Amino acid sequence: SSIQVLTGRTSLQAKLERALHVKRVIVAPGNSDEQDWVKKEMSRACVDEMIQTLGEGDVVAVAGGTTLAALAAAVYPHARLSNVTFVPARGGLGEDVELQANTISADLAKQAEANYRLLHVPDQLSETAYDSLIEEPGIRELLQLIRHPRMVIHSVGDALSMATRRGSTEEHLQGLETKSAQSEAFGYYFDHHGKIVHKERTIGLQLSDLNEEQMVITVAGGASKAKAIASYMTHRPSDLLITDEAAAKAVLDTL
Ligand code: F6P
Repeated sequence: SSIQVLTGRTSLQAKLERALHVKRVIVAPGNSDEQDWVKKEMSRACVDEMIQTLGEGDVVAVAGGTTLAALAAAVYPHARLSNVTFVPARGGLGEDVELQANTISADLAKQAEANYRLLHVPDQLSETAYDSLIEEPGIRELLQLIRHPRMVIHSVGDALSMATRRGSTEEHLQGLETKSAQSEAFGYYFDHHGKIVHKERTIGLQLSDLNEEQMVITVAGGASKAKAIASYMTHRPSDLLITDEAAAKAVLDTL
């Protein structure tokens, strides 16, 4: 019956909260790897959280990817969101334009009838270019917003799949493999202890910027992401994990 189904997911949530030491977990039905509607279900839960948490003048930093693209398609205008500003969490990471944080942030704002700011930085920055770019007045002002948001919404990917999707060199891929990278989230790569093993050089939100003032929402589903979710969630900031049933079960099996 539907009550039993609900109880099953509720107990998965409680088990994951304990196993991953995360305040709250929401488990949507299904498997994002196989069913398109699952990302929509996870997105709906995320939109509910946004509406409950956000208000006048708040800044929301968002990452890129297909999960966040589904979120942008699911959001709708709401009084609590109308004076929110969406910003990309970090600059270019080598993704196709439709999966870039800039695009997702603008799409979220358009769908929610809210505001957005774009961060224009090239994907491959030399150290010198990086150093002078962050001193630009326009960029500095925007970085202030990006680095102190009210909410951060991001997904997590399998390290090697993400590096491959971004067209990384063979050398980079091998380097990640050598360092046992398991997961990736906003340009950081982590091993299975949750230790940072590589960081892409781009401007924007740094993991070390995050503290209790931000609500960090991690949205990641699909059994194929189980190891990545376990790796990221072990030691990284997240107040709420929104996942799906297949990933939840697979995560509990990996731990
Ligand atoms: O590249 C942006 C990004 O947010 C990554 O940080 C993350 O690992 C990935 O996208 C998730 O992508 P998807 O939602 O398509 O699995």
